[in-house]
Amino acid sequence: MNILITGATKGIGKAIAESLSDTNTIFATGRNQKLLSSYENYFVCDLSKQEELEKLGEYISQNKIDILINNAGEYIYSKIDEINYSQIEEIISVNLKAPLFLTSKAIPYMKEKKWGRIINIGSISGVMGEAGASLYSASKAGLIGGTKALALELAEFGITVNTINPGWVDTQMGNESAEEGDWTKEELLECIPQRRFVTPKEVAGMVKYLISDEAKGVTGQSINLCAGLSVGC
Ligand SMILES: NC(=O)c1ccc[n+]([C@@H]2O[C@H](COP(=O)([O-])OP(=O)(O)OC[C@H]3O[C@@H](n4cnc5c(N)ncnc54)[C@H](OP(=O)(O)O)[C@@H]3O)[C@@H](O)[C@H]2O)c1
Repeated sequence: MNILITGATKGIGKAIAESLSDTNTIFATGRNQKLLSSYENYFVCDLSKQEELEKLGEYISQNKIDILINNAGEYIYSKIDEINYSQIEEIISVNLKAPLFLTSKAIPYMKEKKWGRIINIGSISGVMGEAGASLYSASKAGLIGGTKALALELAEFGITVNTINPGWVDTQMGNESAEEGDWTKEELLECIPQRRFVTPKEVAGMVKYLISDEAKGVTGQSINLCAGLSVGC
């Protein structure tokens, strides 16, 4: 299978690429060319820039992508009265507009083949809300809404669309956002029922399941992978 993963240079995206690369062809994207050059197939793209995003769309159309994993994302911790317009533009562009646009480019080939998988990496912040992260929460909640609509629209073509919502994950983003917030890491861990961060490998494992034949009936779902965070302390 041809699998395109956005944000494959580190963290969750890299773990997904590593877990799927033995039996599939990986197409990796990100901004950091140096990190991307470890992949055989890669495309450098800043998802917040329309021109670059459109070129990545063409790359997707040309490469017969069977599975699209919209993983790249950005986080910003900022109180609502402190945000500016360009921050809104950046977060919504990378976390919401880009996944929808790239999906639109991947779908024609999947429809033709009558098989396809779209997996979005959302966040528990898009399910529950996160104080001080309204832009991020709104962008991820948008992804969950889009997932449900697309699942309905594409069901007849054998294409499934799902969102995985990680809680805190042990990556650069997870650790930096934990530092930016008002709580210490110890206080944060107290709020997570399993008292731990999820690992990127666990998210990759869920992706592996969702692209498997066993998961063909799973579509339109918003799957929380959060060490219990979504159900209480
Ligand atoms: N870590 C957590 O606690 C956590 C929790 C819930 C959800 N998530 C979600 O999981 C996904 C992956 O997060 P992560 O923890 O693996 O983060 P990470 O370690 O910071 O990695 C983010 C990835 O996204 C890419 N990226 C960021 N901005 C980009 C842009 N403008 N254009 C193109 N690529 C861009 C980065 O690549 P370059 O630097 O090469 O551009 C990198 O590969 C995100 O959608 C995030 O919201 C993470």
